[in-house]
Amino acid sequence: MFFEVEGITKTYGGLTANNNINLKIEQGSIAGLIGPNGAGKSTLFKIISGFIVPDRGSVRFKGKSLTRLSPHVICNCGIACTFQDVKNFPQLDVFETIQVGAYCRHTFKRQAASRAREVMIFLDLIDQKDQKIVKLNMLDRKKVALAAALATDPDLLLLDELFAGCTPTEVSSLLLTLKKINQELGITLFIIEHVLKVIMSTCQLVFVLDDGTVIESGTPEQICMSKKVISAYLGEDYDASQHQ
Ligand SMILES: Nc1ncnc2c1ncn2[C@@H]1O[C@H](COP(=O)(O)OP(=O)(O)OP(=O)(O)O)[C@@H](O)[C@H]1O
Ligand SMILES: [Mg+2]
Repeated sequence: MFFEVEGITKTYGGLTANNNINLKIEQGSIAGLIGPNGAGKSTLFKIISGFIVPDRGSVRFKGKSLTRLSPHVICNCGIACTFQDVKNFPQLDVFETIQVGAYCRHTFKRQAASRAREVMIFLDLIDQKDQKIVKLNMLDRKKVALAAALATDPDLLLLDELFAGCTPTEVSSLLLTLKKINQELGITLFIIEHVLKVIMSTCQLVFVLDDGTVIESGTPEQICMSKKVISAYLGEDYDASQHQ
């Protein structure tokens, strides 16, 4: 199996943020993770990317166990992540920020710069190349975070609420970018999102977390029909047809 999480459990005192989570993702697919605030979604992504050590369970990627490896080793294995609270380096410009990602694979500045340039062209960021991050609008900041992750040459990209705070036009633009990353680069995507249009229009498989537990998994259509998901997250008024 390309990517597999088995029995992941993480507690904080009396609170179980992740409770025996099991999931599998196929190579080349787009998978989604949804659920109410505090369900444990970001905790799971931080465990997968090595920033939090789980109490129990394992993460396997391309036949190798990643459990207890440090974040830079996991990144080197081919998993990159963008975080819910986008924390770019304010003192760096766009080009330099993306190069930080590229150093994951390249030792020399010239190679890292060349890789960063390729990614900027791919994501249409070349005109903002010399802009300081603090000067960028929300969409471009998110694209830079995405670019820095892409510059690490991942096989699996974890995106934690990349679309939060974006306008509907920005959502449509970022959606096209994600599809391009998946289809043209063959990168597998695993995305956490409250913007349901994103999940419904891109994912082949969706996992629903509630209170640290996977309560449902299936296609977007199956998820929308699930009584458990409607009760825990979507609500009775949810209209699935608005995202078709
Ligand atoms: N370092 C921590 N110490 C204590 N509790 C924590 C810590 N990190 C997360 N939690 C708790 O774990 C639970 C899961 O948090 P998490 O951030 O994973 O949720 P989430 O599903 O990503 O929520 P959101 O949709 O709001 O981003 C929450 O109750 C949160 O308060
Ligand atoms: Mg979160």
